[in-house]
Amino acid sequence: MAAVKDSIKILENIALTDDVFSMWLDASTIAKKAIPGQFVNLFSKDHSMMLPRPISICEIDKLGGRIRLVFRVVGKGTKEFSLLKRGDSIEVMGPLGNGFSIEGKKALIIGGGIGIPPLLQLSKDFAGEKHIVLGYRDTTFMEEDFRAYGNVYISTEDGSRGVKGNVVNAIEENNLDADIIYACGPTPMLKGLQQYAKEHNIKAQLSLEERMACGVGACLGCVCKSRSVDDHSMVNNKRVCKEGPVFYGDEVEL
Ligand SMILES: Cc1cc2nc3c(=O)[nH]c(=O)nc-3n(C[C@H](O)[C@H](O)[C@H](O)COP(=O)(O)OP(=O)(O)OC[C@H]3O[C@@H](n4cnc5c(N)ncnc54)[C@H](O)[C@@H]3O)c2cc1C
Ligand code: FES
Repeated sequence: MAAVKDSIKILENIALTDDVFSMWLDASTIAKKAIPGQFVNLFSKDHSMMLPRPISICEIDKLGGRIRLVFRVVGKGTKEFSLLKRGDSIEVMGPLGNGFSIEGKKALIIGGGIGIPPLLQLSKDFAGEKHIVLGYRDTTFMEEDFRAYGNVYISTEDGSRGVKGNVVNAIEENNLDADIIYACGPTPMLKGLQQYAKEHNIKAQLSLEERMACGVGACLGCVCKSRSVDDHSMVNNKRVCKEGPVFYGDEVEL
């Protein structure tokens, strides 16, 4: 059944850094169905902002009927969400998109910046051996959340924490290997990991955060180039919101 928009109560909304917020929602229907890597569309109360804001599901508490979102304030929509308090309601649609498929025995779980949140639930659900690599520009967040689920390696662009550089530098400096890579983050990072996976013959699942409009597959506003022809548009395109956001590394051109 297609996801519907619902008014959902906020259980907690706290700042993790100056501009990154963690929000728990009382969302039993979404929690029941969601898998790691899927996202929800959040709607603004300001009707001048018609388009929903896609935010990945960071944690899924199926028993408690709750989901957690972690988001960075970048514009009007996310600013509005950051000001919401416990007890307020928000319009939410989800879960949307195709999430990660759990496979392999030894994983490299790699997040960059605000691509880090969706990897927390994956880190919980992946039962095999795992190395978790978190890449930041400077200020770190959610590091402690991940430590409960695997070995954590940090990279920062300014060298203030962990390895100076990017996530590939952290993988190489720590000699990390795996039979599956799961990653979410900015496109240049995903491109680097797509190449790294190819060179090392490792399967990769990459979560793309393309700019979106409708968020539900109707407008083709979020297409990325794919190796195969898409059934919907009959060209070498895939809709990130519908066929993604998670794709195999050899499926898409970045
Ligand atoms: C699948 C997916 C998952 C995401 N998960 C997260 C997450 O977990 N945490 C987080 O902080 N951010 C996430 N983003 C990015 C987030 O959607 C944007 O930062 C947010 O929509 C910006 O809205 P705004 O009104 O604050 O900014 P504005 O720049 O004012 O937004 C203007 C318009 O552009 C769209 N837009 C702007 N930036 C993006 C972007 N990067 N991706 C998609 N649409 C964008 C907005 O939805 C809106 O319609 C995700 C994006 C995608 C596609
Ligand atoms: S955002 Fe409209 S099809 Fe993906």
